[in-house]
Amino acid sequence: MGLDLMIVLGIESSCDETAASIVQNSTDILSSVVASQIDVHNKYGGVVPELASRMHIEAIVPVVDAAIKKANIKIEDIDAVAATRGPGLIGALLVGFCFAKSFAFARKLPLAGVNHLEAHIYSLFLMAKKPAFPFIALVVSGGHTNIYHVTSYDHFELLGQTRDDAAGEAFDKVSKMLGLGYPGGPIIEKLAKTKDPAAISFPRTLLGKGSFDFSFSGLKSSVARYIHDHTISSEDEKAQVAASFQEAVIDVLSHKLITAAQYKDCKRIGITGGVSANKTFVDKLSRKAKDKNIEIFAPSADLCGDNAAMVAARGYTMIQQGNTCRLDHDVFSRTRID
Ligand code: KG4
Ligand code: ZN
Repeated sequence: MGLDLMIVLGIESSCDETAASIVQNSTDILSSVVASQIDVHNKYGGVVPELASRMHIEAIVPVVDAAIKKANIKIEDIDAVAATRGPGLIGALLVGFCFAKSFAFARKLPLAGVNHLEAHIYSLFLMAKKPAFPFIALVVSGGHTNIYHVTSYDHFELLGQTRDDAAGEAFDKVSKMLGLGYPGGPIIEKLAKTKDPAAISFPRTLLGKGSFDFSFSGLKSSVARYIHDHTISSEDEKAQVAASFQEAVIDVLSHKLITAAQYKDCKRIGITGGVSANKTFVDKLSRKAKDKNIEIFAPSADLCGDNAAMVAARGYTMIQQGNTCRLDHDVFSRTRID
């Protein structure tokens, strides 16, 4: 097995996407297949964990099969396996991780148990334009809003995280309050485009000077009160609320990121996770950062949300360092970086 030309099968099943990918040499994506469960969870306004587990069970074999076929390789060409070990929904994680353990055992391959948050940061390394170290990274999704100081391929210093809702979760909940669909982020972003973001003044919770933690529950309550007090019902009124809410989230995220970059004396910021697909966020952050001489890095749209290419990329470095899993290793649900 030539380590420099290693072909890795990546597997992701931490939430509502069953994904498999074949990545060669840590950066060449030969295939990336994502089976989304959005249609199933949409009618409940959020992810139903038991349904997610059942759908992962149905999808895992066809998705891995499709990834191998699309990459135009044979099963024997795979040199290593990388699967998300946590954090995430336990029942969902178990499907992908146990599949990966069995696959690796049967084919006598090394297995990396990948941290989902580190994998999101690795989506930045799959881009042609990659951030050099050190940089500030934001993982902003439906489950997390974490800021890291990244100093190497293995060192992720957590500077702050949300104390309540994740930013993506706030998008999803506001969308639900407005009677719009799930996931809320893309719907709110689209609706917000036509309106003045400064029209309604929603709170920006900063939690005091020097804190890199976030809190979005106050903003969420404030939006709920506004919708109730102003009996928001027309598309036009909804779009106005969407634009002003989105602006409040973007302001807080941008402020914390730029402050963190200045605090750590970093000239680069990378944003990852589902919410980093928000173009209004990327544009506004880029404008603010430019004034401070800071460069912004973001993955392409297909790598922002959950995918298995980022898992394979992270797994590659772990396997190179001999950081592999045994069969008795288990998944984990809580946020942690090993
Ligand atoms: O990373 P991801 O696919 O899954 C998790 O690990 O959570 O992120 C999903 C989250 C959802 O909350 C969704 O509403 C949000 O990312 N999202 C967006 C946008 N696209 C997805 N939020 C704001 N603007 C978007 N364009
Ligand atoms: Zn994610």
